Amino acid sequence: MAIVGATGAVGLEALAILAGRGHPASHVVAMASRRSVGQELRFGAEMLVAETRDIARLRDVDAVLLAAGARVARELAPELARSGTRVVDTSAAFRGDPAVPLVIPEINGAELRRVPPPRLVAAPNCSTIILLVALEPLRRRFGLEHVEVTTFQAMSGAGQAATRELEVQTRARLDGSTLAPEVFPEPCGFNVFPHESPVDPETGLNVEEREMIDETRRIWNEPDARIVPSCFRVPALRAHGQSVALRFRKRTSVDEIRRVLARDPNVTVQDERERSLFPSLLRAIGRDDVLVGRIRQSPAGDGSFQLWICGDHLRKGAALNALQILDTLTEPP
Ligand SMILES: NC(=O)c1ccc[n+]([C@@H]2O[C@H](COP(=O)([O-])OP(=O)(O)OC[C@H]3O[C@@H](n4cnc5c(N)ncnc54)[C@H](OP(=O)(O)O)[C@@H]3O)[C@@H](O)[C@H]2O)c1
Repeated sequence: MAIVGATGAVGLEALAILAGRGHPASHVVAMASRRSVGQELRFGAEMLVAETRDIARLRDVDAVLLAAGARVARELAPELARSGTRVVDTSAAFRGDPAVPLVIPEINGAELRRVPPPRLVAAPNCSTIILLVALEPLRRRFGLEHVEVTTFQAMSGAGQAATRELEVQTRARLDGSTLAPEVFPEPCGFNVFPHESPVDPETGLNVEEREMIDETRRIWNEPDARIVPSCFRVPALRAHGQSVALRFRKRTSVDEIRRVLARDPNVTVQDERERSLFPSLLRAIGRDDVLVGRIRQSPAGDGSFQLWICGDHLRKGAALNALQILDTLTEPP
């Protein structure tokens, strides 16, 4: 197995997951850009050395996780897939390509078992994954008519450089100085702002919001699914929160929603009103599942419900989802 982008936020998380599973270090190739060649990367008790990307070497491995952005993905993925390597790409390069399945295994994993099996699979945007994993048991049981979601996304969703920018800017501000932003359009320490992706002048939607809509419709195979996102960055290092308002096709209750969610292995309900124990970004870090709480009926009295979701965008939102796809693609028939 090879990870391209192994020194990045997603790549490092993929290494940590593989090492945690007991995957042998000798079976992992870690690749990054030229500037990282020779960098040592922790892999459990062992160390891997980052190599420059090399297509010939990548053709020799059975599976490749691409976590190096859309440009690198466009350059490598089609050629690797043609030569028979199983490839999962975490960038946006192929998410809208109808010839490339876009997969969350718990929801549309059947796409991976097509005959012949796909050689190239795209992993969805981290916000889409976290939302849809939490909603899936409810969608199956009650049907979803309308979903509104406001995201609270950690800065590391924009990669390692964004994490460093948050740390440096927070320290500077505490020391009484200000630093010009480099990764984001605004200072990210002690600040909340709309997601930094470009805004479509016609629709007013930014790219993150557009992706959440388009990807949800593809994954659910519902071209008219009503999903209304608003995406924001918050000054957190890791994990994403989502405040969600939902209307179901069937009638239900708060208790029934809790029961359905609690039975799902990919969701943990944290909803203790008496103790104010609810999901938070810190609680979600490092977890494979998605946390759901604040489950309540809308005070509007229109039969809709509200809830609060938190998930680790680097784990299920990126590296874990990609590795689960590769697990299925490489498992014997
Ligand atoms: N962060 C998230 O929450 C998240 C979630 C879902 C999907 N994604 C997607 O996953 C991808 C990686 O994101 P990230 O957050 O991990 O970014 P990141 O922290 O900036 O890491 C980027 C990685 O790509 C490598 N890289 C850059 N240019 C390269 C090149 N020309 N050849 C080989 N390697 C190259 C970098 O190597 P150097 O260290 O040598 O620069 C680094 O390992 C992106 O497409 C992103 O959209 C990210």
